Amino acid sequence: MTRPTPAVRDRVRSLPPTELPAYVYDLTALRAHASAVRGALPERVELYYAAKANPEPEILAALGPYVDGYEVSSGGELAHVAKAMPGRPLAFGGPGKTPDEVTAALEAGTERFHVESEYELRMLAELARRVAPGRRVAVLPRVNLPVADGSLAGSSLAMGGRPTPFGMDPGQVGPVIAALTDGTYPQLELRGVHAHLASGLEAPAQVAVAESVVAWATGLGVRLGEVNVGGGMHVDYGDPERRFDWTAYGEGLARLSERHPELTLRIEPGRALTAYCGWYATEVLDVKHSHGEEFAVVRGGTHHLRTPATKGHDQPCSVLPVDAWPHPWPRPAAESDRVTLSGQLCTPKDVLARRVPAPGLRAGDRVVFALAGAYAWNISHHDFLMHPGPGFHFLDTAG
Ligand SMILES: Cc1ncc(COP(=O)(O)O)c(C=O)c1O
Repeated sequence: MTRPTPAVRDRVRSLPPTELPAYVYDLTALRAHASAVRGALPERVELYYAAKANPEPEILAALGPYVDGYEVSSGGELAHVAKAMPGRPLAFGGPGKTPDEVTAALEAGTERFHVESEYELRMLAELARRVAPGRRVAVLPRVNLPVADGSLAGSSLAMGGRPTPFGMDPGQVGPVIAALTDGTYPQLELRGVHAHLASGLEAPAQVAVAESVVAWATGLGVRLGEVNVGGGMHVDYGDPERRFDWTAYGEGLARLSERHPELTLRIEPGRALTAYCGWYATEVLDVKHSHGEEFAVVRGGTHHLRTPATKGHDQPCSVLPVDAWPHPWPRPAAESDRVTLSGQLCTPKDVLARRVPAPGLRAGDRVVFALAGAYAWNISHHDFLMHPGPGFHFLDTAG
């Protein structure tokens, strides 16, 4: 949805310029989306939210009724999510876990550890012995699996099937599985396996990935209770109306689940759950020509919304025209139909969207960027140039 929801639009219109830019989240829309996602998945499939996509406590809480738990990828995320959502199951993943982080996770009673290497397994075993004597700790080794030819071809960020620092090569998993099943680490329980192989896959590719992971896991010849097939569901920034086909994905997982009734399948999407609920709203400060191209400089920029710079896309947006012009000096306006929207940073990389159709765009008009609910504020380099930070608004029209 490129156009903001009515609640978001009204809030953006009501804010004075000094309260822009602002992140505006529609929690009612988020709940409706999460409920539809949950409804499309088989009951037996567990849905964890990858908190890295957007860890705002209001977002975590809005998702609460629809998810089975949260995936966290650092000690910081673990402490944050445990505080925001006390008592909810956590899966602790991510490369380079430190002994302090693992100790804190054990002390907090974390339900599952996604183990990234044999070294990490040894560390976990020793720390569990010291920190949580007598407690069984559930472990899911993370595997970097080559999947069926072409399955990852459409992905925007492949983390599996090629050299990466994530998880273990299939050949390295053998000794880890052996150590987890032959009594080497009596406190650790082999609960299952974990794989997150790519981001940005459409539903058929996601089903193929899930099938590959389950086929590999069941071929290990050991009893597993769970297989986590990761996140990475596609979000189309070029065509925001085109959503990931959760129905087709759910049907694919249902078929897989029927073939493996002994397994709990789990997914851990981030982006495709929260991207649509967030908007970054700002106002045009200046409009100018440069070598044949027209630029509108907006308050804020990619230090607040880094997503278009990192992913190399134009952030979808719409204009809310503002008729009032309070200043005594003339109001600049676009003369051509297409305007490039840039931010206040002193770098040509600070571009939010290129050649946007915005005929007549004027200083003082508002621009609302969509799909800013995931990997947006929390991945941005906030302090560069010391501009003021954005406001945050969490709209809940149902409550
Ligand atoms: C281990 C793991 N799980 C889940 C996710 C969520 O991916 P996405 O937000 O693309 O769904 C990520 C993202 O990097 C990840 O690394």
